[in-house]
Amino acid sequence: MEFKQIYINHMKNPIGFDFDSLFISCELSAKNYPEDLEKKMTIFCQGRIIYLTEWQTANDLSFKPIFKLTRKTRYEVLVELRSNDKFYSQKAFFETGLMNSFQQSKWIGSEDTSVHGINLCKQITIPKIKQARLYITGLGLYEAYIDGKKVGDEYLAPGFTDYNYYIQIATHDVSNLLNEPGIHTLQISLGDGWYKGKLGIQTHGGKANQYGNVLMANAELDYMDDSGIKHILGTDSTWQIETSHIPHSGIYYGEDFDETLSTKDLSTKEFKQPTKHLKDRLSLPIKEHEIFEAKRIDTIDHDIVLDFGQNMSGWVTFENTLPKGTKVELQYGEIIQKGNLYRDNLRSARASFTYVSDGTKHLIRPHFTYFGFRYVKLIGFPEDIDLKLFHARALYSDMEEIGQIKTDNTAVNQLFSNIKWGQKSNFLDIPTDCPQRDERLGWTGDAAIFSKTASYNMDTYQFNKKFAFDIAVEQSFRNGEVPLYVPNVDGKDGGKAVWGDVATIIPWVSYLRSHDSTILRQNFGAMMSWVDWIHDYAKSTKNEFLWLDSDQLGDWLALDTEDIMHLKGKTPDELIASTYYYQSVKIVAQTALILHSKREHEYYKLLAEKIKEAFITEFYTAGGRLITDTQTALALCLKLGLYPQDFHEEIVKKLVGRIEKDQNHLTTGFVGTPDLLPALSENGQNDLAVQIFLNDDYPSWLYEVRLGATTIWERWNSIQPDGNINKNGMNSLNHYSAGAVMQWVYEYLLGIKQGEQLIIQPQITPKFKIMSGKTKLNTGELKVQWRLADHQGSRVEVILDIPFDNPAQVILPRTQNWIDNGMKHQNGDILQSGHHEISYEPKINFINTFNVHTALNKFMNNQEITNNLKELVPFWGFLELPGNIDHFKDYSILQLSQEMKGIGFTPLNDEQLARIDRYFRTYAKEQIEKEDELK
Ligand code: BGC
Repeated sequence: MEFKQIYINHMKNPIGFDFDSLFISCELSAKNYPEDLEKKMTIFCQGRIIYLTEWQTANDLSFKPIFKLTRKTRYEVLVELRSNDKFYSQKAFFETGLMNSFQQSKWIGSEDTSVHGINLCKQITIPKIKQARLYITGLGLYEAYIDGKKVGDEYLAPGFTDYNYYIQIATHDVSNLLNEPGIHTLQISLGDGWYKGKLGIQTHGGKANQYGNVLMANAELDYMDDSGIKHILGTDSTWQIETSHIPHSGIYYGEDFDETLSTKDLSTKEFKQPTKHLKDRLSLPIKEHEIFEAKRIDTIDHDIVLDFGQNMSGWVTFENTLPKGTKVELQYGEIIQKGNLYRDNLRSARASFTYVSDGTKHLIRPHFTYFGFRYVKLIGFPEDIDLKLFHARALYSDMEEIGQIKTDNTAVNQLFSNIKWGQKSNFLDIPTDCPQRDERLGWTGDAAIFSKTASYNMDTYQFNKKFAFDIAVEQSFRNGEVPLYVPNVDGKDGGKAVWGDVATIIPWVSYLRSHDSTILRQNFGAMMSWVDWIHDYAKSTKNEFLWLDSDQLGDWLALDTEDIMHLKGKTPDELIASTYYYQSVKIVAQTALILHSKREHEYYKLLAEKIKEAFITEFYTAGGRLITDTQTALALCLKLGLYPQDFHEEIVKKLVGRIEKDQNHLTTGFVGTPDLLPALSENGQNDLAVQIFLNDDYPSWLYEVRLGATTIWERWNSIQPDGNINKNGMNSLNHYSAGAVMQWVYEYLLGIKQGEQLIIQPQITPKFKIMSGKTKLNTGELKVQWRLADHQGSRVEVILDIPFDNPAQVILPRTQNWIDNGMKHQNGDILQSGHHEISYEPKINFINTFNVHTALNKFMNNQEITNNLKELVPFWGFLELPGNIDHFKDYSILQLSQEMKGIGFTPLNDEQLARIDRYFRTYAKEQIEKEDELK
């Protein structure tokens, strides 16, 4: 067994974070885990034990120590494990920051609000030191330097918060930068950022000074000299201020960086604390991650355009070789259109970086902005510039990548990559909608919908903790109502279903994934206040148990639209709003149970029951028919069990029928997309779900892949089949919401279901020969791999690595029993943690075959098949009449069987349909046998 890692509040050795409570967890990995493992934790501070547990049974590997933390203090954590004669141990540490206030420093800046880039400087003389820390924050964005070297490896600090309410302090270990006694120069460089630069969507292009107009910073350098005496040097009026080499920067604007500019001294002024609260950081640092090399592409206009092969968020850096005074520009964009770089979809965002060279060789990068891009156009560079000088660097919040899925289908693998890049590009301190245009806001609906997928791909606990805090802050000003985006820069609008439900969904998802209820406790008040807000609103309408009569965003960008703006689909607003009302109230009731709040649990449970009752009365006819048959409505009702008793079958049938009418393609928008395939797979229609997933014509996920996408688009048709971008004014090529389908892949195709009991139930499908994936659970990695061992689909192999303390119930398709590590098991048996190699022979082979859902065009050119179908499908003769096949080629036999009623054919009954499916299966089997003979 390997003791891999200790996490402190889901982070590795965190420094300067807000440790309002401690959750210490461990990660193990092993082929076999000992059964009688015991755990013990000791916390040391300066060599002294300050917290200690007894040896205790290790049923999970977490600890929740409670003791009073001291500011600016490092705590060493030792976790020991033992079983019989074996011992294991690991160490980690965490260090507290200022604990929410500076001691001796002042907020300083320049009163000149016309400047957009300043440096605060101070020369200091220090003796030989033992260690040093820099505690720092600033407004808008800051970077600190000691003797010209950047402090830390994070960018865009102090992150994006409602600065009026709180600003985050970071702690940096700067001992290495100050290890020589003598004179050192401290510098804090400031730019506008989210605080002062143009931002928001109420004013075209964004509005400046959303949170303030004075650039300022506050910092304390603490060091301990060789004799152990502590010193503090804080920002104050003795610091000098000058204009910087960055005269202009902004999130949408980009940056102007001129190293030939002569700087101007400004007078230093002390300011009152510009925010209600100072807080030790919640934000994970934003860091550079993947690095990409440039390829030059030919353009019609003969511009120099570099392609980095991946759409992302971040920036391009280059090694400066330009003569002094040369001015260059890098314009960022996502796509090539008509042979040139296209940037109209960035709307008013300038999204460019200009640089004036000082003639020295060094790395050039932007500082106080970032870009959403795959391409850059170089302007002003020599025609033969060496491309090796350029690199694109992806910037995102420093979350650990914990999940991955691979299959034998390269297009599907590319889709998974696109989904992850949608996440990486938009998880930049807050979950943004998109990284490129004049928006980049924390749209709550997008975040809610994608949060589960995000949590499988990366460890989002701390990221969510910060965002949940931001949401609660906004709610506290609005009586529980959640605005449409958080931080709520400039919007008045809020209180909309799905978007507002982020308040319950984000904490809930984090809890489900981590088994750490801290985030629930921290947000319980805010979660209740959201559902209470809806309930209060509902009381002012005709039914307090439904969410009616309010302005909603509906199924945003769905395709079954009746809306002339094509912004929302046909599913009634009231239906979506009421389903989410129900879901949030249920989440709050469950949260209350976990937090032992009995009264609240009873109250919200009853409220949920009342909503369900009211929902069924309102949205179903007396005979049990749902008032609408959109894919989204049916999927939502199935997911939440919102249908009259005994009507489950009926709803499933309705959904399948609806999809058939839509030619087995999705028509869902933001709201329906994450739930459509789960609704099918959960209800015996996995084949259909897989078919929709594997479509590669419009509209589908793989359509985007086929058209060369490297991220997920905002609209299903952001790019048209002819390669032209959809010019409707709202078209990001890096919008993650439709990527929420990956949750279905983790939960259904791989079959990972986390609940009170971990269940592994892969929905094996012959559309893949192999699928393997992993994600992390609370004690380590869960890996699942399934494989069809022969092409007859007559042998299945499943490999599982189940992490410690997560016994899993294993349910495999088309069998009653299976062999695991040589032992016979019944389907549904519980397997213990460790490595498992399972195999079985399915009752029915997994053969890739057509079926009654398959569109005719997939097989209509196959004479053998069509000859046989003539016998089995009564209306086949009609289809063969001139012109008909062409007209109906995109429909399936099942759908046509329904439609042919109109011309006198009786719809095929279940027995007839089964016979057709059997024929397809026999045909496929014969093909395989023929292939085998040829080999
Ligand atoms: C954003 C979306 C958002 C929507 C809602 C758009 O501008 O980009 O992702 O959820 O507005 O109104």
